[in-house]
Amino acid sequence: MEKTYEIRPDQSIELLKELHILTRDQKLNQDSRRKLKQIYHLANFIEPIIQKYENKPFTLIDHGAGKSYLGFILYDLIIKNTLGKIIGVEINEKLVKKSNQLMQKFRFSNMSFMSQDIDSSNETIKNAEIVTALHACDTATDDAIDFALQKNADWIVVIPCCQAEVYQHLKKNKSNNLNHHLVELYRHGIHSREFGSMLTNVLRCLKLEYYGFKVSVTELVGWEHSMKNEIIIAENIRQKKVSAGARIEKLLADFDLLALKSRFLDI
Ligand SMILES: C[S@@+](CC[C@H](N)C(=O)[O-])C[C@H]1O[C@@H](n2cnc3c(N)ncnc32)[C@H](O)[C@@H]1O
Repeated sequence: MEKTYEIRPDQSIELLKELHILTRDQKLNQDSRRKLKQIYHLANFIEPIIQKYENKPFTLIDHGAGKSYLGFILYDLIIKNTLGKIIGVEINEKLVKKSNQLMQKFRFSNMSFMSQDIDSSNETIKNAEIVTALHACDTATDDAIDFALQKNADWIVVIPCCQAEVYQHLKKNKSNNLNHHLVELYRHGIHSREFGSMLTNVLRCLKLEYYGFKVSVTELVGWEHSMKNEIIIAENIRQKKVSAGARIEKLLADFDLLALKSRFLDI
């Protein structure tokens, strides 16, 4: 029989089966092993954050929740023993319906799901102490960041997904800037995409600093498990860094991206 050593002793096997992470005979396939590994790594980053709340209530908002692997596993491993609650926000109604059924089946009383886009959830959700977004597509990561900034959240943990917006602007403006030495960084298509993603994440980090957060960036799991592997963890130390705003503007100007100024400076 295949080893199941990745499953933690205090973990609900039934839940993992319902999430299709485990097969009926409790096996992991390659895909689910990868998913589980990512979620465990992420849970390891989030657990010390949750512990800071000790006996205090808190709300964790998981944006772009998808099938809510992260939410369910976090709830089962950590949140059920705290005064915290978790709300998954997901635009796809079918996924939300399934997650609601699962949540009821397991009687996870401090868990709920909303079928909404991130932007409009800002009106429905009152407060958020912790905001997560795992592989929320393209600018959904930016929406999650803006949501957290508007809620004055204590912590933001995002693992960005594919990024198209900056890439599209770089590509569009490339021919006008061919003689600029910085174009060498993204002259080739593959470099444009990679550089676009990297620049986006750099600008996101600066934006978080600008709005008073201390930022750390690291990798979630080895690159062999996912290409979208960068994790940005931001703690709200409530010290706005005005200089970060100037650096955002300078970068945008250098790369002919000032059209995106409101994306990276406003909330
Ligand atoms: C790549 S999936 C990741 C799902 C999940 N976080 C995970 O890692 O398994 C991205 C999810 O974000 C949702 N999504 C994308 N844009 C969104 C938005 N603006 N508001 C809410 N959900 C969004 C998609 O429907 C999709 O389910």
